[in-house]
Amino acid sequence: MSTLLVTGIGELVCWGDRPILQDAAFVVEAGRIAWVGPRAQQPQADEMLDAGGRAVIPGFVDSHSHLVFAGDRSAEFAARMTGEPYSAGGIATTVAATRSATDEQLTANVARLVAEMARQGTTTVEIKSGYGLTVHDESRSLAIAKQFTQETTFLGAHVVPPEFAGDPSAYVELVTGSMLDECAPHARWIDVFCEEGAFDVAAARQILNAGVARGLKPRIHANQLGHGPGVRLACELGAAAADHCTYLDDADIDALSQTGVVAGLLPGVEFSTRSPYPDARRLLDAGVTVALATDCNPGSSYTSSMPLCIALAVREMGMSPAEALWSATAGGAKSLQRDDIGRLSVGARADFALLDAPSHVHLAYRPGVPLVAGTWKDGVRVA
Ligand code: NIG
Ligand code: FE
Repeated sequence: MSTLLVTGIGELVCWGDRPILQDAAFVVEAGRIAWVGPRAQQPQADEMLDAGGRAVIPGFVDSHSHLVFAGDRSAEFAARMTGEPYSAGGIATTVAATRSATDEQLTANVARLVAEMARQGTTTVEIKSGYGLTVHDESRSLAIAKQFTQETTFLGAHVVPPEFAGDPSAYVELVTGSMLDECAPHARWIDVFCEEGAFDVAAARQILNAGVARGLKPRIHANQLGHGPGVRLACELGAAAADHCTYLDDADIDALSQTGVVAGLLPGVEFSTRSPYPDARRLLDAGVTVALATDCNPGSSYTSSMPLCIALAVREMGMSPAEALWSATAGGAKSLQRDDIGRLSVGARADFALLDAPSHVHLAYRPGVPLVAGTWKDGVRVA
């Protein structure tokens, strides 16, 4: 079996017993990390990659995205920047465009965004359905997503589609019935947008429980547009993650820290909707596990950039550069309940990014600069 030695690493962020190593090296064998240590002790290998004193970090784990869509909502963004508020209602625009797109168009869109993510250091991405909202369009969305990731999420409960506006409970019946039947085989996760204008807590509980009964694992969009019961529902159900968490009260934070539900923070949303950023510091100080993700979607956050999210988290949300990087890698892995990614210690997948920078701090210190020089997944270069 051929081995690869990555050496000359000025700073290696591995999140091992010593989380950050200077002047380090590691060996990749069969797509996994086989050895990590000081360069002075590096073993021989078949091939060698010299980092030239630059930093190497775990590939980003983007634990929340909506990549299966068609159309463009730049006019909605422009209107927001001149004072229009964001509302869940904009989702219907993308639903109409997605329904009229071909499988080929939708697949090409996902491929384009996954490639864009890889160029920015992302090696794992969770992808949701949620812009189809018919049995056919939700199941084809997931079948397409599955070609790119094992982390697929059924989000039939994104909003009530216009044709069910007069009878939302009939839509909940569809989501928990034949739509779930068709979608469950293509999904690992089930998600609900629990918010004013989307699904209330009773419907969200019913939908998540139906998914769990079909073997899916729950996660939730919660507390994005205002205070509400979504985060506490996630804690009640033992969901993997409660994402957004923009508006939290003390009881929400206590519940997150007591249950270990991961708080997924999505600062691209606050940036693109001109909203207040979530208070990551308050969560970290309370012992909550925080993940950072892009929420890449055409409405509330059309960025594929984890480095941007890190820079925003550091500048606007009270995180240190190391905390933000942890949340964008190991935190994302926790959100997806994966122990094989998000770190570069022995046994983990060799998913990593080489930075054109001497340290991870540059991700926030040099915002907007394309610092990812190369990305490797399972030890193979992908960007
Ligand atoms: O995560 N919050 C709900 N869903 C997406 C937004 C979708 C849209 O506006 O198209 C989100 O922000
Ligand atoms: Fe989302």
